[in-house]
Formats: sequence, C-alpha cells, structure tokens
Amino acid sequence: MAEAANSLQSLCYNRGSLHLLDQRKLPLEYVYLDIRDAADGWSAIRDMVVRGAPAIAIAAALSLAVEVTNLDVFSGTSEDAVSYLGKKLDYLVSSRPTAVNLSDAATKLKEVIKKAAATASEPRSVFQAYVEAAEIMLMDDVASNRAIGSYGATFIQHRLKNSKKLSVLTHCNTGSLATAGYGTALGVIRALHTQGVLERAFCTETRPFNQGSRLTAFELVHDSIPATLIADSAAASLMKENRVGAVIVGADRVAANGDTANKIGTYNLAVCARYHNIPFYVAAPLTSIDLSLASGQEIIIEERSAKELMYSRGGLGEQIAASGISVWNPAFDVTPANLINGIITEKGVITKMGTDAFDIKDFTLKVAGQSVV
Ligand code: MRU
Repeated sequence: MAEAANSLQSLCYNRGSLHLLDQRKLPLEYVYLDIRDAADGWSAIRDMVVRGAPAIAIAAALSLAVEVTNLDVFSGTSEDAVSYLGKKLDYLVSSRPTAVNLSDAATKLKEVIKKAAATASEPRSVFQAYVEAAEIMLMDDVASNRAIGSYGATFIQHRLKNSKKLSVLTHCNTGSLATAGYGTALGVIRALHTQGVLERAFCTETRPFNQGSRLTAFELVHDSIPATLIADSAAASLMKENRVGAVIVGADRVAANGDTANKIGTYNLAVCARYHNIPFYVAAPLTSIDLSLASGQEIIIEERSAKELMYSRGGLGEQIAASGISVWNPAFDVTPANLINGIITEKGVITKMGTDAFDIKDFTLKVAGQSVV
C-alpha cells in the first residue's frame, strides 16, 4: 500500500488492519507494510520499520490488536485469552530493550485484560477489552504530544531573554514518525514555530541510522519549518558560534533521578551545551519515565549490528568501512540528570526547583489524575 507523501503518519490503523510506514525507505520511498499479527509487529520494530519510543509501543500494541480482531476461532476460556495475550505482549517487549514505553504499555494492557477476565467468561470479551485499550493508547499519544509541545513552547518562551526568537538544536527523530503524531521534542519545535518564536531548527544527521537527515529533515521540510541539517560532529562548533539558544531531545527511558537514555550522541550534545551555557531539555511523555530505576546506570543499552556502521544507510546500502575492523554500535547513551535543565512532559515541565536534583516521583504524584491540557 503506497500513500501520498503529504501525510506523515508512521501508522495507519483501522480495527482489524494496521499498516506501518517503512521508515527505512524514507525519504526516497513512501511505502506502507501490512502488519497482520504480533510476529509481524515484532519484526517491524526490531528491523526499524517503525522506531521511536512511543511509536514502538503503539505499533506493538496494535499489531496484537489486529491479530486478535482477525482470530477466526479461539478455543479456551477468558483466562486462556489472558494468558495468550500476556505471552504475546512479553514477546513484543523483547523486540527492543531500551525504550520503556513498550513495557509500560504491556503492563497497562495486562491489567486491562485481567480486569476484563474477572467479569467475563467469554474470551471474546477479553480480546475486545484489549483492542479497545490499545486503540485508546493510539489516541492518547497524539493528545499527549500536543500538550508536551504547548508546555515546552510556553516554558522556553518565558526564558527568552532579550531576543524575541530562538534557534533550537535537536537530535534523532522525535516527530510524527516516532509517535502516533506531532512528536515530543519535535512537537515543541513545531509549537515554537506555530507561535512565531522559532528562528530555525537545526537537526543532526544522527549517525549511523540517520534518523535526523532522513526523517527529521523530511518532517521539517514537509512542515516548511526553517531548518538546517548538520553533521553530528558540527554541533560543538554550532554552539560555539552562538547559533542555538536551546537543545531539545526526546527520551527512551528516564530514570527516577532524571538520568535519560536517548539516541547515541545525545550525551555529547548535553556535555557541549553545558560547556557553552546553553539550556538542554528533554521532552517526553510520562510513559517514558521509569521510577523503578534509581539511576541511568541501570538502563539496558541496546547494541545493534555492526552492519549499521559498516554499510551506508544504516546498514542497508553499500560498504563504507574497512573489512575486518571491529565495531561497537550502542544505539543509545545516558545523559546524566545534572546536564539536563528541564524535562518537558504532557502534564508540565519538571525542573529542579532551585535544588540540584529533579524530584520526578513527587511531580508524578502531584499530576496523577490530572487530565492532559
Ligand atoms: O533507535 P530509535 O530511532 O528508535 O531511537 C529513537 C530515539 O532515540 C528518540 O529520541 C526517542 O525514542 C524518543 S521518540 C519521541
């Protein structure tokens, strides 16, 4: 299924059918892949057809929703349905380890189906409850991203000193393609642009998979946002020349102390930003926060295939590195909380409130139950 290139949707879902935009082919080809079940979902996530913490979680949840919607027969009780879905969710969580959004979604979906099974004897009711909950996750993600954009843009505008506009540097892809729509860090950039205060967005290439040059650049051009692509290695010079007023990145997992795992190279940017006295912000939904981990040291960092460095286009093109060289290819790094000035969420911005540390647990307790703006 091919779609017109004027719609930037990482996933197209209708009950019983899911198509994922093959992000490996962007920006040159715009092709959707048919995802029929959890096995298809697992492979699409592992092989980077879909990527970005929120998009991974939603694609996984919906791949299983499609599978159970199209099940012709299921011989078993409602308890068997819970066990069937639970095993498939565990399998989906095993696709990529660093982003917490997927395991968070799996935990929430397991709670939903357990509750459904407690009141229904028919497995169909459990499947129905699962599908409805997965669909709500899809809708909630866009609302949450818009709220992140709005809180982030307002917060940053209040900190603009003499200038009326600012330029922002971002890394990797955190936009419509990494979420169900709008984006997190790129959502803040979109909101700054809409409010007329964005001078220019700078995006890094984001080697080796080039999420920046292929995907973020594509989204920025698509939205006619003034933007410039830089090599990852040009970031320090850009800051030294005083050309950016803030750095905004996304997150795959935020530990309880605020240490943040995000795309490899994020830590470099945070170190450079601190040296140049430039504020460094993380924009992420609350589902990216993992209060079970005290610090970033406990975050598992995915290491990906040497092919991504040995061959162009993140492993899909021609060979570019010398045969025989050994390769280290961590997909993420951890930026320590002391280099982060604020964490922009859909319920507001977490700051250090005059202290040296974030109190993320306190923030989450205060905003629990509040609806998204
Ligand atoms: O390997 P990827 O492309 O899945 O890495 C994506 C990132 O690191 C993003 O910054 C993060 O998932 C946030 S997306 C809103």
